[in-house]
Amino acid sequence: MLVFVPPHPLIKHWVSVLRNEQTPSPVFRNAMAELGRLLMYEASRDWLPTISGDIQSPMGVASVEFVDPREHVAIIPILRAGLALAEHASSLLPATKTYHLGISRDEETLQPTIYLNKLPDKFPEGSRVFVVDPMLATGGTLVAALELIKERGVDNKQIKVISAVAAPPALKKLGESFPGLHVYAGILDPTVNDKGFIIPGLGDAGDRSFG
Ligand code: PRP
Repeated sequence: MLVFVPPHPLIKHWVSVLRNEQTPSPVFRNAMAELGRLLMYEASRDWLPTISGDIQSPMGVASVEFVDPREHVAIIPILRAGLALAEHASSLLPATKTYHLGISRDEETLQPTIYLNKLPDKFPEGSRVFVVDPMLATGGTLVAALELIKERGVDNKQIKVISAVAAPPALKKLGESFPGLHVYAGILDPTVNDKGFIIPGLGDAGDRSFG
């Protein structure tokens, strides 16, 4: 598994806005969306097939390159907080399909429950899949999501995870279970407390986004 933390001042900026407990919900949501856009930009680099040709500009003929709209690109936000991180990321890519997955973590046991699954029975051959979840804490939620995705014909190498903050327990679990996976994170934090919160983290991303 490879973990990327793109060294960009804007990524640091939006993570800092998210960390601040004084940040109000609408600003928090916008910061999450901007961070998602930047991480998606990095994660899609060298990963989107293009088609080339010639096109007539007002001033002449130019060689051009477009992202190939025939290739299937899927975005899977993990509700609720993943919706905020995916909001601008989705509009960055010219042609995508969004499949919602609702997973909530029990506050006591920290076990994930899947309450909404809009995944297709099978993903088209060669799909590129972005899984979007802001917090990788114990990793239980993402493991549950990736198992569902893989059952539907997707290989680890076809999946990129986009996350605001990732912690060691989640990264360890993902590395053991999904070799070849790529994770893009805004920042790596040192630990998770006994309530399953990333420390220092940014609190409950779902509640802070949606109240
Ligand atoms: C949070 C967070 C992740 C998950 C991470 O979701 O948004 O999805 O917990 O925890 P884990 O790595 O320990 O599994 P939550 O269950 O609070 O749902 P929400 O997004 O609806 O608030």
